[in-house]
Amino acid sequence: MAGRKTVLEVLQGKAVFPPPIWLMRQAGRYLPEYRETRAKAGGFLDLCFNPDTAVEVTLQPIRRFGFDAAILFSDILVVPHALGRDLRFEEGLGPLMTPIAASEIERLDGSRFHEKLEPVYETVRRLKRDLPAETTLIGFSGAPWTVATYMIAGQGTPDQAPARLFAYRHPEAFAKLLALIADWSADYLVRQIEAGADALQIFDSWSGVLDEAAFQAACVAPVKRIVARVRESYPDVPIIGFPKGAGALYGGYREQTGVTALGLDWTVPLSQARHLQKAGPVQGNLDPLRLVAGGRALAEGIDRILDELGKGPLIFNLGHGITPETPVEHVEEMIARVRGRTKR
Ligand code: CP3
Repeated sequence: MAGRKTVLEVLQGKAVFPPPIWLMRQAGRYLPEYRETRAKAGGFLDLCFNPDTAVEVTLQPIRRFGFDAAILFSDILVVPHALGRDLRFEEGLGPLMTPIAASEIERLDGSRFHEKLEPVYETVRRLKRDLPAETTLIGFSGAPWTVATYMIAGQGTPDQAPARLFAYRHPEAFAKLLALIADWSADYLVRQIEAGADALQIFDSWSGVLDEAAFQAACVAPVKRIVARVRESYPDVPIIGFPKGAGALYGGYREQTGVTALGLDWTVPLSQARHLQKAGPVQGNLDPLRLVAGGRALAEGIDRILDELGKGPLIFNLGHGITPETPVEHVEEMIARVRGRTKR
C-alpha cells in the first residue's frame, strides 16, 4: 500500500481491509519518548506552541508504530486561549481556566487569533513536509459545546453541570458563545487545511450529557455551522465528527451536521454501528481499557469490530483517547492483530 493514503480512501467511502488504523491521543504519556520531550519542553502549552517539539511528538507514534494517520499535536483549548482566555495545564488536574461570565462573552478578543495560532499552522506545514506519503495528516478542533464546557466551568467536571446550568439560565449569551467558538474554529480549521491537513476531526467529547433538545442546540447546530463554513472554502475536505456518548442521537448526526464520517465511542453497539456505516464511513470503537488489559479482552474486542464493521468503510481506532497506563506492547499487539487479519 506504499504511497496510498488509506485513511483518505476510507473517508471517500471505500472499504479497505485490513482497515487503516490510528489512535486518538496517540501522542501522549504512555510513550516514554513523549514523556522525555514533555519534560524538556517545560509546560504543556510550550510543547504545543513550539513547532520543533509539536512536530517531534506528532511524529513519535508514526515512527514507532507506522500508524496510517498522524494527528496534529495541539489541544482543543488553544482556541479560547487565542481568544484571550487564560489557560494552564497542571499535572494531575488537567486544564484550568478562569470561568467566563455571561457578560464577558461579547468581549472575547479575536484580534490576535491567527497570530497566536501561527505556531500551530507552522507545525502543520512541517508535518506535511516530513510525514511519509501514505500517512494522512489530520487537523482538529474541539466542538463548540465541549470547548464551552471548559470555558464555563474553568476545569474538567464529571457531568458538565456548570455549562448545562449556564445554558439554561443564559440561553442568549450561551448561543452567542457557541456561535463565536464555531466561527473561530472554522477559520482555524481552514488555516490548518491551507497549511496541509488532509482531513479534519471535530471532538465533541461531552456530547453525552445533554438531553435531546440541548444536544440539537449545543452539539448539532454549532458543528453544522463549522462544517458549512469550512466547506465554503474547501467543499471536499473530509471531516470526522466525534460526538462522544451521543447514544441514540448518533442516528441523524451525520446527515444533520454534514460531517463525512462518524467517530464512534465504545458504548455504540456494533449492530447500530453497522447501520450507521450504511450511510458512510465510521471510525472506532475499541474500549481503551481493553487495550490497557491486553490479552483475551483485547483480542476479542478487535475481532468483534473487524467481524462486524470490516466489510464497510472503517477506520480502526479506540472509542476515546489512549490512557497513560497503556503498555506500549499492547499497542504493538493490537496493530499486528488488525493488520494480520486477511479475511472478514
Ligand atoms: O490525539 C493526539 O495525539 C493529538 C493531541 C490532542 C491532545 N488533546 C493532547 C493532549 C488532542 C486531539 C486533544 C484533544 C482534547 N483536549 C480533547 C478532546 C478529546 C478528548 O480526549 O476528549 C479534550 C477534552 C481536551 C482537553 C484536555 N487536554 C484535557 C481534559 C486534558 C487533561 C487530561 C489529560 O490527559 O491529562 C488535556 C491535556 C492533554 N492534551 C494531554 C495531551 C497529550 C496531556 C498533557 C500532558 O502531557 O501532561
